[in-house]
Amino acid sequence: MLTFLLLILLTCTHHHISTQTHPQPPLTMDPTELQTLYNIMETLSSDREWRTTYPNPCEPSTSWVGIECKPGVSDSHLHVTRLDFGTPPNPTCKNTSTFPSQIFQLPYLQSIFFFNCFTKTKTTISISKTKTRPSCLQQLSLRSNPSLVGSIPSELFLALSSLQILTVSQSEISGAIAPEISNLNSLVHLDLTYNQLGGSIPAELGKLKNLVGLDLSYNALTGPVPHTIGQMGMLQKLDLSSNLLTGNVPNSIGELSSLVFMALSNNGLHGKLPVGFGDLKELEYLIMDNNPMSIELPTEFGRLLKLRELRLANSDYSGEIPASFSQLLNLTTLSLENNRLTGNIPVGIANLSHIYHLNLSKNFLSGEIPFDSSFLKRVGENLDLSENSELCLNPMQAYECAKLGVDVCNRSNRRVGNSGSGVKPLKTSEGRVVEVSRKHLFFVFLVFWCLGFYH
Ligand SMILES: *[C@@H]1O[C@H](CO)[C@@H](O)[C@H](O)[C@H]1NC(C)=O
Ligand SMILES: *[C@@H]1O[C@H](CO)[C@@H](O)[C@H](O)[C@H]1NC(C)=O
Ligand SMILES: *[C@@H]1O[C@H](CO)[C@@H](O)[C@H](O)[C@H]1NC(C)=O
Ligand SMILES: *[C@@H]1O[C@H](CO)[C@@H](O)[C@H](O)[C@H]1NC(C)=O
Ligand SMILES: *[C@@H]1O[C@H](CO)[C@@H](O)[C@H](O)[C@H]1NC(C)=O
Repeated sequence: MLTFLLLILLTCTHHHISTQTHPQPPLTMDPTELQTLYNIMETLSSDREWRTTYPNPCEPSTSWVGIECKPGVSDSHLHVTRLDFGTPPNPTCKNTSTFPSQIFQLPYLQSIFFFNCFTKTKTTISISKTKTRPSCLQQLSLRSNPSLVGSIPSELFLALSSLQILTVSQSEISGAIAPEISNLNSLVHLDLTYNQLGGSIPAELGKLKNLVGLDLSYNALTGPVPHTIGQMGMLQKLDLSSNLLTGNVPNSIGELSSLVFMALSNNGLHGKLPVGFGDLKELEYLIMDNNPMSIELPTEFGRLLKLRELRLANSDYSGEIPASFSQLLNLTTLSLENNRLTGNIPVGIANLSHIYHLNLSKNFLSGEIPFDSSFLKRVGENLDLSENSELCLNPMQAYECAKLGVDVCNRSNRRVGNSGSGVKPLKTSEGRVVEVSRKHLFFVFLVFWCLGFYH
């Protein structure tokens, strides 16, 4: 295997392609390669008469934007190494353009970009089976192609073993991710977002040891997150959000010690979080809203000291907000809304000096909120504590005019129930039913007094 890789490396870099300039110009293209290039151009674009307008497309002075060539080493030809289609100044694709399977026959191609290219005529990714030598392709990027349908053929994974970046996003790709994807062992970034991919995430994905970014969000992937995910030790970004994944978050996730960004939102994940979760020391973004977790909010989150964003809304977390969250001094966003959290807001939360978005609404939190006036001023409208029926604001802070959706605490630090005469439901502009009571009037009075005070 290693020798095979070495062979590819040699073929791709040393043997045929050189970045050095040679003393014996002018170089020409190989006639077969030239014909293949014209065929591809005609399949995709009617911007020009490619053959007549560009008789020498690899000659820098007479070429178009969107093509790049390099001289070979073992031959005296110029070879196409990069093709870029979609938006001007690159060639635009005609509405009858279909996927040019011939493109993989350009033997020295390193990068392909198709952006907004297949938009009217349905077409599939295809690869011609006659392959002469290992492909040198390092980057294949297909973005925003709504007419690109069908699955990603496993032949592609087998033929393009030098790929480092594979993007097939915002298209209509369906079917499962073939296990042969593990053949792409040079892959660094995999982005298959916004498609219709189904089936489960293949366990073989774990063999992609060099993967740094894995984004499969906005598909219809089912089943569990495979435990082999923990084998991708280089992973920095993991986004599996907006799929149909179920089961627990696998324990092996705790082994992804380089992880900076993890998003698992909008899935059916539930149950215990891995013990090693708190060991993800590099984690800065943990986005995990909308999962039926049904557990107590884990204290371990408080060990993720580099966290900037922690989003755990709508996930059926219960218990108290752990005091350990006060250690997350770099936190800018904390979203815990719409869970079943109880108890007081830990006083230490008031020490999080970088917080600018704090949403704790729709829980069962109680007691006096611990924030002083400077905290309330700083977070302002991005602080939402509404719909926690037992939560209240110290009268000393009330004059800060913060729209917290919280009532002023009663003298005995307890809110009064909805008892008393003159109480009636009222629809606000947001459609929420609120109760009018004397303490609301007191609050309104404070707000008016406050407004008057500042004018
Ligand atoms: C493609 O474009 C041509 C002219 O630019 C137009 O006449 C034709 O209707 C278009 N076809 C489709 C399928 O949009
Ligand atoms: C907080 O962020 C700063 C830079 O914004 C960084 O230097 C520091 O190491 C971070 N703190 C922790 C505990 O990671
Ligand atoms: C908040 O910070 C102050 C000073 O920085 C410290 O004395 C106090 O113990 C902290 N409170 C909590 C609950 O962490
Ligand atoms: C807090 O979350 C609720 C519920 O999802 C949402 O309606 C509200 O707009 C959020 N508040 C802020 C300040 O983001
Ligand atoms: C505080 O609570 C008591 C009874 O629990 C009630 O009579 C009183 O009106 C409340 N005060 C305010 C300011 O709401």
